[in-house]
Amino acid sequence: MSRAARAVSIDELRILARRRLPRLAFDYIDGGAEDEVALAGNRAAFDSLRLVPRAGVDVSRRDLSAEIFGRRWAMPFGIAPTGLSDVAGHGTDLAIARAAAAAGIPYILSTVATTDIETIARAIPGGFWFQLYMPAKREVGHDLVRRAKDAGAGALFVTLDVPAPGKRERDIRNAFALPFRLTPRVLLDIASRPAWALGMARRGAPRFASLAPYAPPGSTAHTLAAFMASQITADLVWEEIARLRDLFPGPILAKGVSAPEDVDRAARLGLDGVVLSNHGGRQLGLAAAPIALLPEAVQAAAGRLAVTLDGGVRRGAHIAAAVALGARFVFAGRPTLYGAAAGGAAGAERAIAILRDEFDRTLALLGAPSVADLSPAMVRT
Ligand SMILES: Cc1cc2nc3c(=O)[nH]c(=O)nc-3n(C[C@H](O)[C@H](O)[C@H](O)COP(=O)(O)O)c2cc1C
Repeated sequence: MSRAARAVSIDELRILARRRLPRLAFDYIDGGAEDEVALAGNRAAFDSLRLVPRAGVDVSRRDLSAEIFGRRWAMPFGIAPTGLSDVAGHGTDLAIARAAAAAGIPYILSTVATTDIETIARAIPGGFWFQLYMPAKREVGHDLVRRAKDAGAGALFVTLDVPAPGKRERDIRNAFALPFRLTPRVLLDIASRPAWALGMARRGAPRFASLAPYAPPGSTAHTLAAFMASQITADLVWEEIARLRDLFPGPILAKGVSAPEDVDRAARLGLDGVVLSNHGGRQLGLAAAPIALLPEAVQAAAGRLAVTLDGGVRRGAHIAAAVALGARFVFAGRPTLYGAAAGGAAGAERAIAILRDEFDRTLALLGAPSVADLSPAMVRT
């Protein structure tokens, strides 16, 4: 059994991932914006919570399952969308998607994933959810939504927190770009991780698979990357998201929401949910931690839409705390990336198994035999 398959915590998978990846790949996954205050704050906000268990409850039989949008999942936890995941190693998107499906939890595919919509749909016939970056060329965005719908996407997550790229200084220092810019420093970095380098040499650098059809004909990896950079959208507003109803029949959620006023706005526009998120601390350097904003968001939602959350979830107890404070579902991006980087498919499975096991223990220790028994009274903020 590999080290990754025996890891006892997400933090251990992170350390193993750092050993396996060249610096530019690890930093792309691990890093945050500017001084990484939001990145560290997401985790610190969870770790500053204290739980108050109920004693003397029969927890011998526990039900971890949770329902959202008419479907019951193995637990109230799913995989947040991550772009360029195959930088962690070829097959990362597929390994994570399959691990999620096998564990009975939802997987959200990114617009800028390195595996295309149709391939993911075929790999996990039980269904996937799709995350949309609305491109500057709106017809491309609409076609992506059509493809996601045709491929059976069960929900659409429209990301709102990238009107400009975050200033991720590790990536700037490492000259991180796709295709890789082979400066002497990058070559040295890559040469220090021969297994990773060999994989990339054999299969070629990962690319934006779902977007390839829209790039100018005859595009090289370079022109595709330039096309992508030109597609960042700074003018996406709420009304336009609401209009996506005409194209997508399933639940639509706004991802990257912080302010309670915006939760109310989403509800008034009839959206089905929000993901409280600061993009894992990768965008606004001083962004508030989603878990700290959750109680206000739940109040603003007033039961009209599903409030979900991501950012800094590294423990099953974090999932339990968020659900206790009113999150319908909780997501995480980096844990399964660390797992896959550390040990491929087995590592991705391990990351989910660790969080599931910890969530199960936390329910028992909290005196909550089921997800419905988690309550705000169990959390001191
Ligand atoms: C490497 C990486 C790539 C990401 N790419 C996307 C993306 O393509 N679309 C998106 O909406 N969010 C993206 N995110 C943000 C995640 O969906 C999620 O909000 C974040 O990872 C949650 O924080 P966590 O990593 O602490 O769990 C990315 C995050 C990481 C770490």
